[in-house]
Amino acid sequence: MLIKIARPSDCHESEVTPEALYLSRRRFLGGSLSGIALASLPGFASADPSRYDGVDPVAQTPAWFDEKLGALKWDAVTVKGESITPFADATHYNNFYEFGPEKTDPAANAGALQTEPWSVVIDGEVAKPGKYALEDFIKPYQLEERIYRLRCVEAWSMVIPWIGFPIAELIKRVEPTGNAKYLRFETLVDRAHMPGVQSNFALIEWPYVEGLRMDEAMNPLAILAVGMYGRVLANQNGAPLRLIAPWKYGFKGAKSIIRISFVAEQPKTTWQSLAPDEYGFYANVNPTVDHPRWTQAHERRLPSGLFSPNIRPTLMFNGYAEEVASLYAGMDLRVNY
Ligand code: MTE
Repeated sequence: MLIKIARPSDCHESEVTPEALYLSRRRFLGGSLSGIALASLPGFASADPSRYDGVDPVAQTPAWFDEKLGALKWDAVTVKGESITPFADATHYNNFYEFGPEKTDPAANAGALQTEPWSVVIDGEVAKPGKYALEDFIKPYQLEERIYRLRCVEAWSMVIPWIGFPIAELIKRVEPTGNAKYLRFETLVDRAHMPGVQSNFALIEWPYVEGLRMDEAMNPLAILAVGMYGRVLANQNGAPLRLIAPWKYGFKGAKSIIRISFVAEQPKTTWQSLAPDEYGFYANVNPTVDHPRWTQAHERRLPSGLFSPNIRPTLMFNGYAEEVASLYAGMDLRVNY
């Protein structure tokens, strides 16, 4: 993956929204928080729509999302004592190679992505396969807010309040057969609207594919996200449906998912196929196993700049060891990186 040092102008320390401030604003809004309300709050300076480079996630909020938001379970999981990354940074410093290789390309280009109508296919080793309109796919699940660390393999990190539901709930509903050992997540390819796909950047073989072992997908921390920061997902962050496994490097978080297949064999994933010595299937955040070209012992928490680099030690399993370490008991994590 490309490594870029952020310019001091990329982000400003003053834009950090302290968690307490964000949470109190959110409580003030209660269960009916909508993107519009959030954007209009004076203190939420980073939600200024003029910074979206033509992408306005508020304008795209579908009715089903607002309906589901009313029953949202707030604070289902949170990160104590760490600031939530400003919305502007989370939506303007992205990896979404279908829209181009630069961190700013997704915000600039993903506005053209059509997320309505959207359908999701469930297939493979399940008793209940199907193709669902997104709103029907989401309907059975209660949405929860999960405030998670996001650690990219490139050694930068953020803290993001996602909105989603546990993948375990989906798994129960579709009834996997005894042959289902892995989940394979496939994402959209839309040549007409994705400049990165047109240019065949970095030899990526589209579609972007990711996978989880069944027990990883069943872990309560693994979610399918449909929103962030109390609003619907921005296109550049993987609207309308995205995988989040917070103890793994960010590249596991497949964006704009169109198909979830239950399979017997470990799926061939995008980065593993491209550079198997550098990116493994497991991709668990691990400060003791370096990337061949850089250390993973530390990370740069965004926003960061020349005078406040915000370097911090990387935590084993990104700080979620208590919840997930048992999944890997007896495995050599240097081999299974
Ligand atoms: N999903 C798709 N479809 N295409 C991508 O290029 N990039 C991955 C992941 N999901 C990617 C993707 C990588 S490398 C990272 S670090 C995260 O998305 C970044 O998520 P963010 O832009 O929301 O921070």
